[in-house]
Amino acid sequence: MDSKQIVSKALAAGYVVPAFNIPHLPMLQPIAQAVADENSVGMIQVARLEWEKFEAESLEKVAEEYEKYKKPGHTLLHLDHVPVIDEDHLQVDYMAILRRAVAAGYQSLMVDASRLSLAGNIEATRQAAELAHEAGIPIEAELGAVMGHETSQQSIPYEEIFAKKMGFTQVNEAVRFVEESGCDWLSVAVGSVHGAIADNLLDKKKPAAKLDIERIAQLEAALGIPLVLHGGSGIEQEYIAKGIKAGIAKINVGTELRQPYEKAIREGAGVAAAQERVYNRCRELIRDFLCTAGDADILTK
Ligand code: 13P
Ligand code: ZN
Repeated sequence: MDSKQIVSKALAAGYVVPAFNIPHLPMLQPIAQAVADENSVGMIQVARLEWEKFEAESLEKVAEEYEKYKKPGHTLLHLDHVPVIDEDHLQVDYMAILRRAVAAGYQSLMVDASRLSLAGNIEATRQAAELAHEAGIPIEAELGAVMGHETSQQSIPYEEIFAKKMGFTQVNEAVRFVEESGCDWLSVAVGSVHGAIADNLLDKKKPAAKLDIERIAQLEAALGIPLVLHGGSGIEQEYIAKGIKAGIAKINVGTELRQPYEKAIREGAGVAAAQERVYNRCRELIRDFLCTAGDADILTK
């Protein structure tokens, strides 16, 4: 399975490839199983903050777990957010992490230099793209500010952020960014927010986010490459459906599956019961939220 081809096919066919996050290693098996049981295609992904601040341990550990439970014809392994400057504003040796991911067998990578200036983001992404392309795999980058991971913000009400399109990806900047950086997929800021990772917000319901469908369509028309939506949990389904039609071809989902897993563990239900809740929720998401059940027949043929 070639990740680049599959995401391009999803874009052309009006489908989306979901990418599910693994903040706790036992979540991987039920997610892979759910994707296969819905005859769908999905990515298993881990972000640096999930091995730094949650219990994913390391990108290598996730790759090992993936080898055990992957479903050929249904699952792909992706490396999510490798920040150049992280959520605590610290500099990260991102190239070293990307090299480790290539060695561990990841099939696509993300570099997130969105906290840098436009020129800084282009330069960091260009280097990362070179590394990925030498390894024969695609790279995702981010332009604009998909908020939520930072622990210190959220003082501005969501409605104001959306109305003023604060931090949204600009079309003219995106055209320059993709041309000069050589990224394959672009994560865009169009209204979604990341599930919060601050301790006091971990188990709270995400505020319902909206999507600027017109901006997605403008970006897609100008760029012609697959767009990626981060912060996929908790968006109204109607927006998801329209966003996919407008050019979203990969969608990241974390909080929707992390919360039921952590709740079950907190209640003392045990790992097996927590895995079952993840499995059931993941199947529901594929069927009713992403509407991608059965798409393996289209995307992998
Ligand atoms: P949510 O946790 O809000 O679904 O966001 C996931 C994400 O964007 C991971 O990169
Ligand atoms: Zn994200």
